Amino acid sequence: MYVDTHCHLNNKDLYAKYKQVMDEAMQNGVGLFIVPGFDLETSKIAVELAEKYENIYAAIGFHPTEIKGYGKEEYKWLEENVNHPKVVAIGEVGYDFHWDTTTEEEQEESFIRQIEIAKKANKPLIIHSRDAMNKTYLTLKEHHAELIGGVMHSFSGSYEMAKEFIKLNFYIGLGGPVTFTNAKDPKIVAEKIDINYLLTETDSPYLTPHPYRGKENGPKYIPLIVQKICEIKQISSDEFADKILENTKRLFKIKGWENND
Ligand code: NI
Repeated sequence: MYVDTHCHLNNKDLYAKYKQVMDEAMQNGVGLFIVPGFDLETSKIAVELAEKYENIYAAIGFHPTEIKGYGKEEYKWLEENVNHPKVVAIGEVGYDFHWDTTTEEEQEESFIRQIEIAKKANKPLIIHSRDAMNKTYLTLKEHHAELIGGVMHSFSGSYEMAKEFIKLNFYIGLGGPVTFTNAKDPKIVAEKIDINYLLTETDSPYLTPHPYRGKENGPKYIPLIVQKICEIKQISSDEFADKILENTKRLFKIKGWENND
């Protein structure tokens, strides 16, 4: 059984046809989905989907570019819902300095606030980091995120940086970019990082793997990502799938889901 640890079934386009998106993925062997929120509305949808389907788990959190105007009320909702039995993480949270809809200060305040909520609830973090690798590392270290750990989602940094995040108890999430013909770092990371620290994800509807780049992404494409990593690591997809399921269950403290197929 394959796992998609980062799949936005709560994105407007995918949510409109999420049953079909899930069915297509399950036909391709994907049996477990984690849906991360990126604002209040999509965090609520993630929880709703997780309540409805046994094989969907939710993460709740506010993406750094979506926090404009957020205050007491929004963060209170996170605090009230973080202990929901199907909420397995706070995310996606972090830094994004590619866009300028929010300032660095606003992003930092929100990030720290959400790290503290995660720590209090003892739930891991799903981290988004764009053009901000060093600052992401420093904030996580300074605020003792190693106490809860998490995943560096769609990790785009170097092998050396990946090792530093692993020391902080973070896993490395690999997705579509590992299949891109021009990708260098993700392939080196896939090759050198121990399989015990890897997770698979699509970041649907974004980052569609080769050869479908430019089209809408879906969790049905997880096998393309798995295939590529297995080819790089020279291991069988069965062995790989077992490990990834184990890693996912360990990090997100998910019970059940034995691998029988
Ligand atoms: Ni995402």
